[in-house]
Amino acid sequence: MHTKLFFPTGKEMKNLRKHVLFEPKKNLKQIRRSASVWLKAHWENKLSYEINWLGIPIIQSAEDMVILQEIIYNVKPDIIIETGVAHGGSLIYYASILELLNKGRVIGIDIEIRKHNKRLILKHPMSKRIVLIEGSSIDNKIAEKVKKYIKKKDKVLVILDSDHTRKHVLKELEIYNKFVTKGSYIIVEDTIMPQVANYKHAKNHYKTDNAKMAVDIFLENNSKFKIDRTWEKLGFTYFPGGFLKKIA
Ligand SMILES: C[S@@+](CC[C@H](N)C(=O)[O-])C[C@H]1O[C@@H](n2cnc3c(N)ncnc32)[C@H](O)[C@@H]1O
Repeated sequence: MHTKLFFPTGKEMKNLRKHVLFEPKKNLKQIRRSASVWLKAHWENKLSYEINWLGIPIIQSAEDMVILQEIIYNVKPDIIIETGVAHGGSLIYYASILELLNKGRVIGIDIEIRKHNKRLILKHPMSKRIVLIEGSSIDNKIAEKVKKYIKKKDKVLVILDSDHTRKHVLKELEIYNKFVTKGSYIIVEDTIMPQVANYKHAKNHYKTDNAKMAVDIFLENNSKFKIDRTWEKLGFTYFPGGFLKKIA
């Protein structure tokens, strides 16, 4: 399979969109209202734990996973770095998309990759595109290990989904933003924390110590990234303001 033969060109995609029946006058108020009701039900019923990809659990919303597919298709990265592996479903999902794009590798970092998870990830057909690194994502030695897999011309996309506290995410942003290439993204997951702080299952610190605060501090000091709201088009996401595009 060759990607150039298989996928529409930019011009073809643009033409194709002319035939898609988009609603030009969206009722944004209605979308926001429904999304907020859906978010509460989604969060309180832990629906993020219901998704599997090729048999392996992913801890995400279906909406966010489809949007991530669009981002991967648009960027066509050579390397995807994800902090926070858990069962590995998200790694296998990204690797599957890369397989269809006929390129790239996913590097998954987790402080603890449990035996049963590791076994299933490693025996999965998509493991040929996956590198697992065990250790804290903010440990410099781990970042050095990651660096060894990146070649000079590689397009790099980063997804942060490990410890979502302010200090940890900020440190991850400081370390991994350097790997991201212009036009690509660093996606900070679970920036929704302050919005769900009063919901069932939320932890006490969600309002005062969260991933969204890390994004705010990072952007104050870094003009190379800006929030891209394109990917919030469904109204529902666990990462509002978390899609950070590298613009310079
Ligand atoms: C929300 S889960 C990841 C879910 C996964 N990305 C998915 O979509 O299915 C968070 C993971 O972060 C890991 N983690 C927590 N602290 C970490 C740290 N300091 N460095 C790396 N990983 C960490 C946990 O062990 C856990 O597996």
